[in-house]
Amino acid sequence: MKVKDAKFVMSNTDYTKCPEPNMPEYAFIGRSNVGKSSLINALTNRKSLAKTSGKPGKTQLINHFKINNDWYLVDLPGYGYASVSKTMRAEFQIFLRDYLVKRENLICTFVLLDSRLEPQKVDVEFMQWMGEKAIPFVMVFTKTDKLNSHTLLKNMKRYEEIMLESWEELPPRFYTSSTKKTGTEEILEFVGATNEDYHKK
Ligand code: GTP
Ligand code: MG
Repeated sequence: MKVKDAKFVMSNTDYTKCPEPNMPEYAFIGRSNVGKSSLINALTNRKSLAKTSGKPGKTQLINHFKINNDWYLVDLPGYGYASVSKTMRAEFQIFLRDYLVKRENLICTFVLLDSRLEPQKVDVEFMQWMGEKAIPFVMVFTKTDKLNSHTLLKNMKRYEEIMLESWEELPPRFYTSSTKKTGTEEILEFVGATNEDYHKK
């Protein structure tokens, strides 16, 4: 699939105020600074459609982007952002949780994971929670340009082992770099195929 058109629609903290749920929707989630906004820009071939930053906690709202007038791409705040107050963090989590559980057109969530790190407890627990709530997701490893192929392979294998301790099978996995634009075609192909299934229903 080619991205011909990408538009920012609106920002929100309330899933009931998001755009009408009349198109398939894909959300990007993961720890702060993992590269969610950067990957959205890489996928849409725009420099600053989604705002990025070297400092964690840049994205604080549910941001809707309309792609090809056919589907929504959603940039979400990071979870596990330690420098905001506890109360703010709890509020964050409530609106994020509500959005993920209740948004009816959310057909797949991309869980972004830093390929440089060993499996992180917060990420593994988040995916566990998604599983318990039966929210479909795929795993997207980010920043693969920052490590050599040997270390990448080692880290990915470790992730698979840890996941298979509690999952019967693994969700689809994507390996990306926003700086090198690696993995973007695979993700767009996946979205294209999933959209087709959605429209058939
Ligand atoms: P929050 O909005 O704070 O939750 O962060 P985010 O997950 O949206 O991260 P963002 O896209 O803002 O990127 C964080 C930092 O990582 C920025 O400095 C990016 O330039 C950098 N970054 C993101 N993706 C890549 C990548 O694929 N390769 C490299 N080398 N750097 C990246
Ligand atoms: Mg962001």
